[in-house]
Amino acid sequence: MTLHQIELSGVNKYYGAYHALRDIDLKIRKGSFVALVGPSGCGKSTLLRSLAGLESISAGDLVIAGTRMNGVPPRKRDLAMVFQSYALYPHMTVEENLTYSLRMRGVGKEEARRKAEEVATTTGLSALLGRYPRELSGGQRQRVAMSRAIIRNPKAFLFDEPLSNLDAALRVHMRKEIRALHDRLGATSVYVTHDQVEAMTMADHVVVMRQGVIEQQGAPLELYDRPANQFVAGFIGSPAMNFVPAQVGADGRSVVLDLGTPHTVALAKSLEAGRVLIVGIRPEHLQLAGEADAGLRLPVGSVESTGAATYVTTATQPELVVVLNSRVSIRPGETLPLHLDPAHLHLFDRETQIRLA
Ligand SMILES: Nc1ncnc2c1ncn2[C@@H]1O[C@H](COP(=O)(O)OP(=O)(O)OP(=O)(O)O)[C@@H](O)[C@H]1O
Ligand SMILES: [Mg+2]
Repeated sequence: MTLHQIELSGVNKYYGAYHALRDIDLKIRKGSFVALVGPSGCGKSTLLRSLAGLESISAGDLVIAGTRMNGVPPRKRDLAMVFQSYALYPHMTVEENLTYSLRMRGVGKEEARRKAEEVATTTGLSALLGRYPRELSGGQRQRVAMSRAIIRNPKAFLFDEPLSNLDAALRVHMRKEIRALHDRLGATSVYVTHDQVEAMTMADHVVVMRQGVIEQQGAPLELYDRPANQFVAGFIGSPAMNFVPAQVGADGRSVVLDLGTPHTVALAKSLEAGRVLIVGIRPEHLQLAGEADAGLRLPVGSVESTGAATYVTTATQPELVVVLNSRVSIRPGETLPLHLDPAHLHLFDRETQIRLA
């Protein structure tokens, strides 16, 4: 019995001269929900399509359920792909859409119908089996696309931005639905999204990509708490982490932030005096302090309130975003006394942008 349902090692992909995937190593455990996330064009769909066999890989190895699958055609890989476009057959009812692939593989009419009913119960489509895709809402169509994947009982589900056609509220609802379905089926899922919140909330394991490279992979909170480099730090978390150029003070125990004017804050451990850095500060880690214990006093640029939280942008260079989870009456031009826990500072090398241990 293999622990890993899918294993990629040293996978590279070229489109002509364009190097789309670079030395990808990825192990996907059976039963896990893995999200591939990164900016547009970073290679997420290419990686997913390579798993499915819709693209051939140029170098490296792909193993699915213990068998090497390089060069094996898609239909023999036993994976099910769910797209954002749903790709439903418009002239077929929901039931026909569900049973089509089974019928093509020679499953009898009655058995196919029984399976369709069973899957429809799981996905809440029982009452809609006789409808045509045009008679369904976006969320219902998405469920049909999911059901069509489930009915094949695949070794893994591959999702490529399946929710991007839905409005914000339905998207949040469908996230939960897909994750619950994954758990109920004991499935293995690989889920592509450019939305880091979707990746963080749905997945057990998040893979952050940039320009064909895996920048970091791990549990969602691992990536949030200890981003390996400035790119991951800026990509994970909303609002995004603030970055400030800085230099370690003469005592080695403090760092001077360059916010147009110098601001000195304490470090959690000592560093080489004079070293230049980038300091990362998450907006939620800057909290309102009393006048006496403020480690940082910053001029207020603008203030926005969502009701639940107050977003302050400082009048500094660079600007910092501060999220206060309380209602405060502050105005532009005033000075904001802030507390900053040294343990919450993220330190990156100015040259390499890599996290300092
Ligand atoms: N068939 C192709 N021929 C040549 N280049 C391609 C081909 N398909 C994709 N690419 C290029 O490979 C890179 C990765 O594309 P891919 O579709 O994997 O990105 P993505 O991460 O899925 O982006 P998005 O979030 O926009 O969907 C892009 O620069 C793209 O232009
Ligand atoms: Mg894509």
